[in-house]
Amino acid sequence: MNRSFIKVMICSFFLIAFSCREKQDEKHDSPIENAKWWKEAIVYQIYPRSFKDSDGDGVGDLQGIIQELDYIKSLGVTAIWLNPIYTSPNADNGYDVSDYRDIMKEFGTMADFDSLLAGMHQRDIKLVMDIVVNHSSDEHEWFKQSRSSRDNPYRDYYHWWPAEKGEPPYRYSLFDAKGDAWQYDSITDAYYLHYFAKKQPDLNWSNPKVRQEVYDIMKFWADKGVDGFRLDAFQFAAKNTTYPKFPDGFESDFIQYYAMQDGLHGYLKEMNEEVFSQYDVMSVAEGAGRNFEDAHKLVDQNRNELNMAYAFEGVDIPKYEGYDLKTMKDVFTKWDKEFAEDGWLSIFLANHDQARMVSRWGNDSDEFRSASTKLLNTFILSMRGTPYCYYGDELGMTNIDFDSISQYQDIAAINGYQKAVSEGEDMELFMKKLNFGSRDNGRTPMQWNNSEHAGFTNGKPWLPVNDNYVDINVEDENADQNSVLNHFREMTRLRKQNPVLVYGVYELVAPEHPDIYAYTRILDDKMALILLNFSEETSEIKLKDEWDNHSILINNYSDVEFFENSVKMRPYQAIIFNIER
Ligand code: GLC
Repeated sequence: MNRSFIKVMICSFFLIAFSCREKQDEKHDSPIENAKWWKEAIVYQIYPRSFKDSDGDGVGDLQGIIQELDYIKSLGVTAIWLNPIYTSPNADNGYDVSDYRDIMKEFGTMADFDSLLAGMHQRDIKLVMDIVVNHSSDEHEWFKQSRSSRDNPYRDYYHWWPAEKGEPPYRYSLFDAKGDAWQYDSITDAYYLHYFAKKQPDLNWSNPKVRQEVYDIMKFWADKGVDGFRLDAFQFAAKNTTYPKFPDGFESDFIQYYAMQDGLHGYLKEMNEEVFSQYDVMSVAEGAGRNFEDAHKLVDQNRNELNMAYAFEGVDIPKYEGYDLKTMKDVFTKWDKEFAEDGWLSIFLANHDQARMVSRWGNDSDEFRSASTKLLNTFILSMRGTPYCYYGDELGMTNIDFDSISQYQDIAAINGYQKAVSEGEDMELFMKKLNFGSRDNGRTPMQWNNSEHAGFTNGKPWLPVNDNYVDINVEDENADQNSVLNHFREMTRLRKQNPVLVYGVYELVAPEHPDIYAYTRILDDKMALILLNFSEETSEIKLKDEWDNHSILINNYSDVEFFENSVKMRPYQAIIFNIER
C-alpha cells in the first residue's frame, strides 16, 4: 500500500469479519518446536458462585454453567478454569476446603460435576481445576483431628507451636484483622499457623503423609478426566516457621520471605512424578516466586515441575492513582524476553482477586468503556503466553460502586477494614481505594440480559448485580455486531487461526511512545503488528517502510486513518495488521 499521500482507509467490520473467515482454513505448515495444547489454549475463568444460578438460591452453580456451555463454546475459548467447587464453609468462598473429594452443596452434586465435564469434553473444552492445598479449612476432618490432641496422628498435618515455648516468631497473615498468622488454640494450648484467614490453617508440606494425601486427591480428579490444575498459593507451601525474626516491615514485601522456601521444588518434582507425568494434564502455579530465577525453576521444561505460572508483576501495576503505560510495556516486555527461550507464562489482566479489568486498566466511562475493553482483550489475545480471560470481561463488565463496608462480602475487604480502623488510617481514602480495588468488584454476578438480576438468578443474588446490567449484558451484545462480545469472539478466532499470535517472537516497537503500546509477533514468514492506543486522545505512530505491505486483521473502530507514513489512532483504538514479508 502506498502511504506517501494523506489517505483514509475505510474498512467496515463486515469486510474485516469476511477476511478473517477467509483465513479460517489456512493452516500453518511448518512444525512448531515444543508445540503444546496448553500453550495454544484460551482459558476462560469462571467464578462459579457468580456465573449462573439454576435453582434460585442466589448462588451460581454447576447446572448453571452446564446451561451456558454453548455460550462458552461460542466465545471461542478452549478451556475453563473453575474456581474451587469443593465442600467448604465459605470463609473465603471455597478457598477453604473441608472435603476435597466432594462438591459444595450450593454448587450441586458430583453427578452435576460429571455431566459438566462430559458436556465440556463433548464441546472440546478442557477443564482446569483449582487445587487449594497451601491450607485447608479448619472444618476439614484433618484439622479437627489435628487440633484435638497433641498426639493425634493428624497433629503434624499442620504447623503447631506449643505455648510453653513462648510466643511463636511473628508471621504476618494476609487476611487477619490483627495481622497475626499464629492463632492460639486452647484445646491443646498451642498456636497454629495460617498465612490467610484464621479458618484457613496451613498444611504442613514437610510431612510426607500430607503430600501423599494431596497427590491422591489430584489423582482422584485426574482419573475423572480433568485436564489441568491451578495450584492456589502454592509458592507459599514450603515454610520457614522457626526463623526467629524477619526484619521490621517485612509485611510490605512478604513475598521475599514467604515464597519459594526450601523444599518447594522437591515437592513440585514429586508432584510431577506422581501426578502430572501420569496424565495429559497441564499445571499452572499462582505466583512465580521472587525473581526470574525462581520463575524459571518453576516452569522451565527440563525442570519437570510445572507448565506455567501466573507472574503478578503485570497485574499489580494499576493503582487507585492510575498507572503509567511505559511501566506496563517494560514489565510485560521483560517477562516475555526472559521466557523467550525456555519456560512459558500466563497472560492475564484480571481474575477473581482483582477488580474489573476495564476499570483498572482501561476507561469505564460510557464514552470509552467499549473501545478500551476491546483494546485490552486485543492485548491479552495477541501476546505470547496462555491467555486467561475472566468471565464478564468479554462483555466489558465494570467495577460496582459500593460506598459502605456493609455491602462488601469479601473477607479480605472486611478484615482489611477492621485493621485500617484499628491502625487509625485515613478511612475516607481507605474506602476510595477499596471501591477501586476490592475483589468484590470482580465477583458481581454475570450479566446475561436486562431482566431482573440480569438473568443471573430468580432469587436474591449473593452479591448485588451491577446496575449497568441494563446496558451491558450477553443478550444485547450478542445482537450487536460491534459489541465488545463479538470483538472478543473475533479475537479468539484470530488467535486460533494464526499461530504467529501464539508462538511468534514478540518485539516491542516505539518503546518510548507515551500513548501507544506497539509490538510485532514474528513466526517464520508470518508477521503481525499490534497497535494499541491506551490514551483517550488521538495519537500517532510511524510505521516502518518495510511494513508497507499490510492488511488489517482486526480493528475496534470501523476505519483506520493513515497520515503519510503514520497511523493516526483514535482513543483506545486497537488494530492488528498482517504484514507481508
Ligand atoms: C489465592 C486465591 C485467593 C484466595 C487465597 C487463599 O490467592 O486466588 O482467592 O483468597 O489464595 O486461598
